[in-house]
Amino acid sequence: MSILVTGGAGYIGSHTCVELLEAGKDIVIVDNFVNSKPEALERIKAITKKDFKFYEADLIDREAIEKIFAENEIDAVIHFAGLKAVGESVSIPLRYYHNNITGTLILCEVMAKYGCKRMVFSSSATVYGMSNIPPYNETMPTSATNPYGRTKLMIEEILKDLCISDSEWSTVMLRYFNPIGAHKSGLIGESPNGIPNNLLPYVAMVANGKLKHLNVYGDDYETPDGTGVRDYIHVVDLAKGHLKALNYAYNNTGAKAVNLGTGHGYSVLDVVKAYEKASGKNVPYVIGPRRPGDVAASFADASEAKRVFNWEATLGIDEMCEDSWRFASNNQ
Ligand code: NAD
Ligand code: WQD
Repeated sequence: MSILVTGGAGYIGSHTCVELLEAGKDIVIVDNFVNSKPEALERIKAITKKDFKFYEADLIDREAIEKIFAENEIDAVIHFAGLKAVGESVSIPLRYYHNNITGTLILCEVMAKYGCKRMVFSSSATVYGMSNIPPYNETMPTSATNPYGRTKLMIEEILKDLCISDSEWSTVMLRYFNPIGAHKSGLIGESPNGIPNNLLPYVAMVANGKLKHLNVYGDDYETPDGTGVRDYIHVVDLAKGHLKALNYAYNNTGAKAVNLGTGHGYSVLDVVKAYEKASGKNVPYVIGPRRPGDVAASFADASEAKRVFNWEATLGIDEMCEDSWRFASNNQ
């Protein structure tokens, strides 16, 4: 039996594939490379010295997805494939709704047809919206402020309905906080195209001299130093959480939302300091206006993951920055 990993060539997917292979699992990856490169697959093989089947296909292409299920015995799916740029989702919402939601619907339909009813889905802490007070726990009301976030919310609702309609389904909806860092090998990590939107890839490009300075989006929040606070989580800790979630999905049915975060918040300036320490480089910054849609602080109540998966994050901010820097400086 194999586990299908959608979006396995991407940032979180590639790290999870490494953990799955190292745990002795058989995997099949599907990706259309809309936001990744084939190189990542070679690097997963180089790190693990293990092989796997790969299909270059779009989730929207039902025939291609059916072919994967027809040719392999898939008994669970880890579903990463989706578009994730918040700003872009505001300018091209239909592309986001189509890719993320239609893609997931087709995937679920094909899974049901082949009797595969276990899914671990990449949701996001963005579903906690703007009005909850952190630490966020899974019982809080959810909402979204942009089309990207709405795709995550809608998919969570779809997966809940699916589990209500058929009690054999098991879906674990993992609400990731802010994944950063890279694999220790320096071979896989996050390398967005163009100018990064997210903090860490931007800081990395300032540290290696590709960008002049960081624009800090506001220093007048009600936080210890006035800059935004987030729950940064090492991508390898996050990847390991998926193995625990998968195990949960094999042993339980129904829809379950679980936070994957550390429970600790760091400000933008904390991250800048940690990155300077890890890289030995200066990270100059300029304080600018707030970015629309940002909350002052976001961090997890991480106790549910500990309770149901016996999982908790182990790597701290220094290791996150060291590993990010190793990848950034190896892959200039
Ligand atoms: P990523 O862009 O690096 O990986 C996503 C992968 O999916 C890419 O390789 C892309 O080519 C592929 N893909 C996208 N649409 C596809 C389609 N229709 N068919 C086939 N492949 C497709 O992103 P990531 O950071 O690894 O995120 C993985 C998942 O986690 C996404 O669903 C994202 O929304 C979610 N998530 C990410 C973060 C984050 O900060 N990185 C936070 C919360 C949730
Ligand atoms: C972190 C902090 C910024 C860039 C986003 C998505 C969310 C999730 C993760 C997928 C904030 C500040 C940033 C910069 C800055 N993705 N910042 N200068 O906004 O918490 O979450 O990625 O689900 O949905 O919204 O992450 O890395 O963009 O920002 O000052 O150039 O860094 O204001 O306080 P965010 P981020």
